[in-house]
Formats: sequence, C-alpha cells, structure tokens
Amino acid sequence: MKISFLDLKKQIRGIDKKIISSINKNIKSSSFIGGEDLDNFQKKFSKYINVKYCLGVANGTDALEIAIKCLNLKKNSEIIVPANTWISTAEAVLNNNLYVKFVDVDETHNICIKDLKKKISKKTSAIIIVHLFGNPANINEIKKISKSMSIKLIEDCAQSHGAEYHEKKTGCFGDISTFSFFPSKNLGCFGDGGCIVTNKKKLFTQARKIANHGGLKKNQHTLIGRNSRLDNIQAGILKVKLTQLNKWIEIRKIQVNIYRKYLKNVGDIEFVKTIDNAKSSNHLFVIKTKKRNQLKNYLNKKKISTGIHYPLSLPQTPLFKYKHMFYCKKMNAVKWSKNIISLPIGEHLTKKEIIKVCLSIKYFFND
Ligand SMILES: Cc1ncc(COP(=O)(O)O)c(C=O)c1O
Repeated sequence: MKISFLDLKKQIRGIDKKIISSINKNIKSSSFIGGEDLDNFQKKFSKYINVKYCLGVANGTDALEIAIKCLNLKKNSEIIVPANTWISTAEAVLNNNLYVKFVDVDETHNICIKDLKKKISKKTSAIIIVHLFGNPANINEIKKISKSMSIKLIEDCAQSHGAEYHEKKTGCFGDISTFSFFPSKNLGCFGDGGCIVTNKKKLFTQARKIANHGGLKKNQHTLIGRNSRLDNIQAGILKVKLTQLNKWIEIRKIQVNIYRKYLKNVGDIEFVKTIDNAKSSNHLFVIKTKKRNQLKNYLNKKKISTGIHYPLSLPQTPLFKYKHMFYCKKMNAVKWSKNIISLPIGEHLTKKEIIKVCLSIKYFFND
C-alpha cells in the first residue's frame, strides 16, 4: 500500500462535479479575468476570516510583496522574518528593497518571543509572523511588542487557512495578512493563487492599485504597480473548496491525534509544540528525530512519502548565509533543519493509513 504525501485527485472526491461545472460555466461565459466567482469568493473568504476586505492576487509571494509595499515603510528599514519559513517570506522583503532581520524560532517552530525582543531595533519597521505548519504563532505577545513600538504587523498565513487563536482566524490580527492558494495548501486552487486580507480600507485600496498596474481604473495609473490577479476560474474552484475546508481541518486534527498517541515516547521523537488557545490547521505534521535521514529512507522503502520543511533554514541558504550566518549560526532553526521530517497528513488519507505510518515508524525505532 503506497501512502502519498499529497493526492489532490482524492481530495476533490465528492466535489469534483461541482468544480467541473464551475469551470465549464466560466468557459461558456468567457469570464476569465475578473467576474462573479472572483467577487463572490473574495466576499466569502473575508467573511470566513472575519475581516472587512479581501483581494485575490496571483500567488502568495505576490501577496506578501504587495502587502509590504502597501505599508510604505521607511527606506532602508528592516523587517523581522522567522528563520524557519519558505523563501517567499524573506524574498518579498528584498524585492521591496528593504532589509531582512532573521529571528529564531522556539519549540513551536514559530517566532521566539525572547529572540524577537533582542532583534528589534530602531531600524525595524515591520514584523512578518508566519503561522508555520498551520500552528498559530503567539500573536498576542507579538502584537503587544509591535504596538508598543509602532511597528507594522504582517501575517503570512500561507499555511494556516482556518487556523485559530482565541477562536479568531489567523489573518485577522495583522495590519495586513496574506494567503497562498498553491495547490498543496489546505485551501488550494488548480494552479497559482493568493490573496491579501485587511480591515484597513486605506491598505486595501493601495493593494488594489498596486495589483492593478498602479491604478483603480484602466488607464489611470498613479503609482508603479504590477499585474497580479486571481483568475475567475480559480476563484470558482476555491469557492467550492472553501465549503469543505472546516471538514478537512477536522480530518487533519483526528490524524494528528493518532500520530501523537502512537508516536509518544517512540525513539527520540519530539513533537512540535503548540501554544494554548490555538487551533491548528495542521497543514503539515512535523516531528523531530536525530535519525531523520535514516527514517526518511526507511519510510521511502516502505512506499510512505514524507517531506522536509525545510532542509535548510533561510539563513543557511546561499542567498542569505554570507550576510546573516554570523548572528544566526546558533539558532534553533539552523540546528533543527537536520532533524525535522513532515509525515503524510490530509483528507486523502484514511485512519488506517496513518496508523500504518505510525507502526512503520515504531518498527524503525525498535529494530
Ligand atoms: C509560509 C509561506 N509563505 C509564502 C508562500 C508563497 O506562496 P506561493 O507559492 O503561492 O507564492 C508559501 C508557499 O509555499 C509559504 O509556505
């Protein structure tokens, strides 16, 4: 029995007819750029997150770049970025001609508050929180710090659609927040997609302008913008998938409970900690072991696919290492990059399959 990390064909079982009819409807009406589905999805997603405004854009990386640009941050200022995240979070800062300052992660693999306090300086103009693996970061603490220092807060929710902190969805806490709808995300489209959400009308208007060649209306360009759109067909697909998101998150939660039960005290396995009052979207289920590479190979031989998120922390990547490693080399993010492994999780898997993964891992450690 092969256990795949991701199976998008299986994910849409039961809603495939609705998705196909949505695509066909838009082909028949030639509604490709803008349209009813885009308007409806933006409304539905802002309602889901409980924010006033949502703007569909071309992908999660664009969403970050545009969100940063909207904030009009001080020239030459620094943005705090967690050391363990996908490249886009830091890349978006550089593409805005601003500086990255890495902050370490704690056992939650999200921003370490103690290190954040050390890294903030007069040069800091914004913090990007990433709710990595779908686990909410310690938003209250981070917000207290950003507020007291008048620093802007951006939430990168690319992995945390539907995750909650104190019963509020991630994405509603920052000045501006971003999502990716990359196909493998908990809410993903059939290609690239993303969005920006905010409660601030001024930021929303600015984002709309930037994403639309610098103007709200055609031929009225008031600033340097770009073309970044969520296609109507993709929005139609997302609208159908959004109706399943809560159910899918529940399935993931059950799977995590199985993993935690079966893998407790097995070998040197450590779980990623989650904070109180948080509900994870469990986009990824990550464990740590010193035998990571051997375990990965073993599971691979058993036809169980796994992932690593990420094999190198950002300060270790060639793009950053020369300028950043001097203050990052002792970071948890660097140390743990050798130990982390993401186990299969998702609505495409059955309880039986998750138990099989657990038993294989147990067998590996007891052998
Ligand atoms: C944390 C994080 N931020 C940003 C992105 C970028 O999203 P996209 O691939 O849609 O550009 C991703 C995608 O993997 C991500 O995981």
